[in-house]
Amino acid sequence: MGAPARALAPDLTVALKRLKLRAFRELAPEVLQTAKTQRWAPEEVLRTLLEAEIAARDESNLRNRVRVAQFPVVKSFDDFKLAQSSVPQASFDYICSLEWIVAKENLCLIGPAGTGKSHVLVSAGHAAVKAGMRVRYISAAELIESLYRGLADNSVGKIIDSLLRFDVVIVDELGFAPLDDHGTQLLFRFVAAAYERRSLGIASHWPFEQWGRFLPEHTTATSMLDRLLHHAVVVTTEGESFRMKEARSRGGRMRKTAKKS
Ligand SMILES: Nc1ncnc2c1ncn2[C@@H]1O[C@H](COP(=O)(O)OP(=O)(O)OP(=O)(O)O)[C@@H](O)[C@H]1O
Ligand SMILES: [Mg+2]
Repeated sequence: MGAPARALAPDLTVALKRLKLRAFRELAPEVLQTAKTQRWAPEEVLRTLLEAEIAARDESNLRNRVRVAQFPVVKSFDDFKLAQSSVPQASFDYICSLEWIVAKENLCLIGPAGTGKSHVLVSAGHAAVKAGMRVRYISAAELIESLYRGLADNSVGKIIDSLLRFDVVIVDELGFAPLDDHGTQLLFRFVAAAYERRSLGIASHWPFEQWGRFLPEHTTATSMLDRLLHHAVVVTTEGESFRMKEARSRGGRMRKTAKKS
């Protein structure tokens, strides 16, 4: 084993701290020592330290974006069983490509419980975060609640603007609870503000023609759907709930184990 690396000179440590080049600073003693013993070109020293700093920053930005996104679960396209879903291959490929986010299109998933809507939305969110985009996941109930709070202190515009700083806002579970007229207006303001500016990822149990079930104000509902669907990828998920299928197969396994013992 070689001699321990010599600590950096104090003035260099201070300068690197001031510039917040942490990975650079922490690696420098070892890299400088290796460079000396292995006779690296001076350029190579700079390159190695800068690459380490960039890698550390990318990783910390990624962690930060994942935290800010507030995903409720970790899901990925890799563990989505396409063959067991009703999502067409072409739609799935387009969703995975994330081009819809670049094109500021919306992604709407419509279908019954447990058919993979949130799985696809959250996977898309994670993929987008990994690709360097800013993503925010929010349930429709949370969104409406926060807009309602904004109504009380006149900050609806600010709340909408801060959400639309993200490249894509995922609004999950739309229509679980019916909205009143105010709620419908607030949701409309949000969708209208995002229109052609940002991507929205939406999931709902209700086919569009039945959105009147949770949006009582017909004209506003129509105008909202018009904006939502103008540039949108729409995927209908069908079939039995994955949760039910899994519960049944677990039940089957448990019965088999119980018989054996
Ligand atoms: N095609 C699939 N491949 C792998 N896992 C799946 C698939 N579809 C659903 N799942 C899993 O089944 C569970 C339920 O799916 P998900 O949460 O996406 O349903 P959902 O359509 O959002 O239902 P809800 O309307 O009740 O919110 C999740 O754990 C999800 O990962
Ligand atoms: Mg869901």
